[in-house]
Amino acid sequence: MPAIVVVGSQWGDEGKGKITDFLAQEADVIVRYQGGNNAGHSIAFGGKKFALHSIPSGIFDPTKLSIIANGVVFNPKAVIEELSILQEAGVDTSGLRISNRAQVLFSYHKTIDALQEEARGVAKIGTTKNGIGPAYVDKFMRSGLRVADLLDKDYLTKRLTEIVGEKNLILTRLYDAEPINDIALSALIEEYYGYGQYFKRYIMDTSYQIDKELRRGKKVLFEGAQGVMLDIDHGTYPYVTSSSPIGGGATTGSGVGPSMIQEVLGVCKAYTSRVGEGPFPTEQINEIGDKIREIAHEYGVTTGRPRRIGWFDAVVMRHATRVSGLTKLSVNCLDVFSDFETVKICVAYKLHGEVIKYYPASLQDLYDAEPVYEELPGWSEDITQVDCIEDLPENALNYLNRLSELTGLEIATFAVGPDRDSTVVLKDLWKIADSEVIKHA
Ligand code: IMP
Ligand code: MG
Repeated sequence: MPAIVVVGSQWGDEGKGKITDFLAQEADVIVRYQGGNNAGHSIAFGGKKFALHSIPSGIFDPTKLSIIANGVVFNPKAVIEELSILQEAGVDTSGLRISNRAQVLFSYHKTIDALQEEARGVAKIGTTKNGIGPAYVDKFMRSGLRVADLLDKDYLTKRLTEIVGEKNLILTRLYDAEPINDIALSALIEEYYGYGQYFKRYIMDTSYQIDKELRRGKKVLFEGAQGVMLDIDHGTYPYVTSSSPIGGGATTGSGVGPSMIQEVLGVCKAYTSRVGEGPFPTEQINEIGDKIREIAHEYGVTTGRPRRIGWFDAVVMRHATRVSGLTKLSVNCLDVFSDFETVKICVAYKLHGEVIKYYPASLQDLYDAEPVYEELPGWSEDITQVDCIEDLPENALNYLNRLSELTGLEIATFAVGPDRDSTVVLKDLWKIADSEVIKHA
């Protein structure tokens, strides 16, 4: 019955993969509820490293269900590529399930994403160019096709012909690009019908399945992609992704009611990183940022871009805690700060001569906001071998405690390295979630 949601609480890349992977070991069902193959997390398994983009991290265990839920924009071509890498490595991927209500991401979404970014010039968002935004636009514009539609060739042919007509106007009149001609349209229909046939055995009503599993007492883990500050409503709009990575995204994105969820775990790093454009008040474009980037290998899994780096921002984290209803916190990359004389935490912003403790909505206010820092003593000890909280040097412990105090969240885990066994667990989240289950008739 228990359900836990894992949410990135900064701008993505907080190390959710590692925590999800850890919690997934005890889960029966793992659900991806938003985003698409813009996400990327690397998982070490059986001595090999895998980059997962759309497929939930439960996939390595065929006794678990790994669900791509309705809130995801499903790129069948990319998922086939991901599956083949796993299958070639001997992974039994039969636990995969795909929602019949997930939107399909077509190749023209990718084309339009690239054209749009180019047309924006300096105002570009810095997307991953995977077509995520255009696919969600079509969903909300009601010009999308869903996974179920791939199985009905007549409907697919009819709708895709109409939609491609619309797209051709956009391609030719807005971007002066090549239209999709009749031959390409026929090929597109065949290609995507083929994907439907390929995925047929995985496609189902995943909301129904998750509900059934929960009622049977199974443990369900909801895995968010990206992070709260990239949320379409609550992030740094318009420099966001086009979905809802917040905790609530798990309910709309998978067809499960909020009353079914007990714990919402926020994942953060001991500092902050972001890829793509947009405001980032605590950013360090200096030797501090460079030092952290090199120690922590802060380069994107999906795009390889160097990540922008900054100090921990408690204003962001309080915002994330509220809009996602976080109940516990996981702090990653604490080891990165060994060998820092002092470490800073942003506790408020100074805006137009006033000290504020909330995250402003206006983009200009965010660019104008100056962080108010608290400076804490650093530590010089190597902590990568620490396996219990008592073994942390005093200053590292103080730092961790201060993050907990400022966010008002208990620390569930902290990590001192990238490996699975570098995570120190302070709270048994499944046990806690289980004790909080309210029985629904
Ligand atoms: P899109 O999701 O490709 O449309 O990109 C929109 C913004 O979200 C850009 O700033 C991307 O860099 C960022 N973004 C998308 N996916 C991720 C992710 O998995 N981690 C971090 N940033 C991401
Ligand atoms: Mg990532």
